Amino acid sequence: MHHKKPPFIAGNWKMHMTIPEARALISAVVKASPGLSEAEIVLVPPFTALAEASRLLLDTPVQLGAQNLFYEDKGAFTGEVAGPMLADAGCRYVVIGHSERRQYFGETDALVNKKVFAAFRAGLKPIVCVGETLEEREAGRTISRIESQLRNGLAGITADRFAEVVLAYEPIWAIGTGKTAAASQAEEVHARIREKLAENYGKEAASYAIILYGGSVKPANSYALFREKNIDGFLVGGASLEAESFIQITKEAIKAYKEEQ
Ligand code: 13P
Repeated sequence: MHHKKPPFIAGNWKMHMTIPEARALISAVVKASPGLSEAEIVLVPPFTALAEASRLLLDTPVQLGAQNLFYEDKGAFTGEVAGPMLADAGCRYVVIGHSERRQYFGETDALVNKKVFAAFRAGLKPIVCVGETLEEREAGRTISRIESQLRNGLAGITADRFAEVVLAYEPIWAIGTGKTAAASQAEEVHARIREKLAENYGKEAASYAIILYGGSVKPANSYALFREKNIDGFLVGGASLEAESFIQITKEAIKAYKEEQ
């Protein structure tokens, strides 16, 4: 049986936040964190703020993640950042295959797959993103698109290893558009993802898998989304840039979680 897990709330800051801005946002989240102890909170700043973020998050329950990594562990790859560097900077998580990376930087499922293995080598937990475009949704290809992203992106990953993977379903048409997937629409895809995971890794691994929703998550829709059976948390973009909305999203998810207990 699938039981509701504590909310996992990650804030993907994307290409925002100077170090002083990061400091202020982190301090506010850390200050609120004792009241958010039912949730697992992960902040995902740009590379430039990671070291400072790590310093501020030391001995707090808030975890640190990076937005990307390269698939080699070191070498002559100007401009890239390796998994061991992220681990060294204090990261526990790394986002892989975000739709913006796929869209603007040509990342393919094959590249995502290499990056997932690079994350494992560095002891990082990958947050692997999948999601369909509006065109794919309208053509009835949502599920087949996501299944192929999972199949190819996670190729060669054993059930043991899979336990370290966090998945994020982010419909591309809902990112930064203010168009959230309706809770039931998101749940439909999440349920299908979990079924697929059960086929690939077994029912138990699938039930433990954390499947996040991302795309215009706001304080006003967090509760309804988290009430859905297969939505285990959120990857929040825009609303994670302000402490107040990020904290409120977390509180709403915790409220929904407590009602399920
Ligand atoms: P928004 O919350 O700004 O729609 O971004 C979602 C996202 O891409 C998180 O990774």
